[in-house]
Amino acid sequence: MSIEFTFSRPDVFTTVRTVSSVESIDVIPDFLIVDSEVKKIYKNRLPSCDFEVILTGGETSKTPETLEKLWLNMSQADLRRDSRVVIIGGGSVCDVGAFAVSTWKRGIQLTLVPTTLLCMVDASLGGKTAVNIAGKKNQAGTVYPASEIVICSEFLQSLPLSEMKNGLAEALKTAVIGDRQIINYLKEKEYNKAVSACLVVKGRIVEADLEENGERRLLNLGHTIGHCIEAISNMDISHGAAVAMGIPMAAKIGGNTDFAAELTEVAHELGLETAIPKEITLQEIHKHLESDKKSTSAGRIWIIPQGWENCVQLLLDRTTEKELLKKAWQ
Ligand SMILES: NC(=O)c1ccc[n+]([C@@H]2O[C@H](COP(=O)([O-])OP(=O)(O)OC[C@H]3O[C@@H](n4cnc5c(N)ncnc54)[C@H](O)[C@@H]3O)[C@@H](O)[C@H]2O)c1
Repeated sequence: MSIEFTFSRPDVFTTVRTVSSVESIDVIPDFLIVDSEVKKIYKNRLPSCDFEVILTGGETSKTPETLEKLWLNMSQADLRRDSRVVIIGGGSVCDVGAFAVSTWKRGIQLTLVPTTLLCMVDASLGGKTAVNIAGKKNQAGTVYPASEIVICSEFLQSLPLSEMKNGLAEALKTAVIGDRQIINYLKEKEYNKAVSACLVVKGRIVEADLEENGERRLLNLGHTIGHCIEAISNMDISHGAAVAMGIPMAAKIGGNTDFAAELTEVAHELGLETAIPKEITLQEIHKHLESDKKSTSAGRIWIIPQGWENCVQLLLDRTTEKELLKKAWQ
């Protein structure tokens, strides 16, 4: 499989291709950034490079300190404008690594090889790079699409179930937004097909709206409530688990109770829990909604699923939002 996405400028494009095994990842890096867990598991089967930095997966690596370490190593490797950096890892290592690449000499060649389902179906495409500042997520970042993404679903064989669920929740979101068939691929564990279909949906949206001024907001489906649940639980509930709870709730907020019930059933079939724990109260949700960085004085835009491949953006003022949430919560 090979798909090409072109963004708002003709020189900004991403080619996605699939390979059948780790050994067939045919990239020639001038500089390699690898997730430590992936390095431990796949060792010498990974592409090799004289200049290699190994980063721990997870949020702890998404820091300005990691950026500085990467820049110093890039300097030692004497990377130039036409040098290629290959990043092999999940969304965390890709987010911080791509940030360093996007700012090195104001941007050099980038290939991403995602190793988690979440990164394959979502984080690798669309160009968002980020680091956390003072414990707050994704406070600094750039938009810098990789010129190449290489998908190798063999990596999923070693992925822990909890991480797999994070990706399944984002894939469910993508199916609701743009391609119902993704659910069947996931149920059949046809991951190459599922990932390709997710990337086609996300690519179509991002091509039209790289800077997130319009259609790209659809990708926030399930995230408005999801972010609140994640924060209220002190991150005990993972991002994906919280998004899975947020998707049917968004349908309920829009008054689409039958579709919410269908989404709940599909989520359960994929092994995702959708019931919001009793300890999380509506009052806490309202409090956390106020720190949503996408809020404006006019209110918040909610992504409401009305049916498969049919989501709308709804600007809700605070009073209406309160009323609809109260009804949906019952
Ligand atoms: N840039 C974007 O558009 C975008 C979109 C969504 C999420 N994100 C970001 O992605 C991050 C989460 O990424 P993630 O869910 O991929 O998790 P992750 O990168 O944090 O990795 C999770 C864990 O899995 C391990 N791991 C990775 N690949 C593995 C494999 N094949 N086998 C075994 N273990 C493996 C890692 O070492 C880590 O311990 C968050 O920081 C989030 O903000 C970015």
